[in-house]
Amino acid sequence: MTRAPHSTIRLGVNIDHVATIRNARGGRHPDPLRAAHLAVEAGADGITAHLREDRRHISDQDIARLKSELTRPLNLEMAATAEMVAIALRHVPNACCLVPERREERTTEGGLDIVGQQRQLVPVVAELKAAGIRVSLFVEPDSRTIAASAAVGADIVELHTGRYCEFAADDDSKGAAAELVRIAKAAAEAAALGLEVHAGHGLTFNTVAPLARMPEIVELNIGHFLIGEAIFGGLHGAVRRMRALMDEARQKVSGRVSA
Ligand code: PXP
Repeated sequence: MTRAPHSTIRLGVNIDHVATIRNARGGRHPDPLRAAHLAVEAGADGITAHLREDRRHISDQDIARLKSELTRPLNLEMAATAEMVAIALRHVPNACCLVPERREERTTEGGLDIVGQQRQLVPVVAELKAAGIRVSLFVEPDSRTIAASAAVGADIVELHTGRYCEFAADDDSKGAAAELVRIAKAAAEAAALGLEVHAGHGLTFNTVAPLARMPEIVELNIGHFLIGEAIFGGLHGAVRRMRALMDEARQKVSGRVSA
């Protein structure tokens, strides 16, 4: 049976890289919470933040502030470790997206190995769900992984779109098209098993539309590109304001000197 497409699709904005820039100087600016409020104002349905074991971007305090001050659902990305589960149980975000994590990786590479980690994942998924947290698994779009995701009791699968986006960035339209077929098939299989279907990783203005058209996908999570693009949308205004402040201050001084 084919499902009727959902009429709307949710956008989750990942604000990790606002924290990356803040942490480059160690102060408070730019504040990920302020970015989260702006994203919501602009139409984001939810905010995603990845609390990494090495805390390279989002901090524990960011999670506490996001949880207490956000008006939209918080999706906490995390590894399925005892430390992260304890943090999730303390803050009770709307959802937890379990991701694989390696210290040396630059970003989440590949999906979770659900088939290989089934035994360890079952109690983690159960504990989070018992606390009222929706559990999402970040997975490669393949049939065995989707079936295993349902078997461990997840509510949601987030399909990894990284390969598709890499093909698209390399102008490999055949590769991108083949990957889209794989994603569409996985989305249909997941929905047929009763899983809610999300997708994300590497999405840009150029790659988002084919995913937004897939009827089973109800949420896309997008971060790095949006934060990068925000530089181009916002740098002009920021420089103009600085220019104006400098010129105004200088004019006041020279006015005093010549008076
Ligand atoms: N979904 C998951 C599970 C992720 O790990 C990430 C990256 O943190 C994203 C979505 C967003 O990816 P990007 O920052 O490339 O848009």
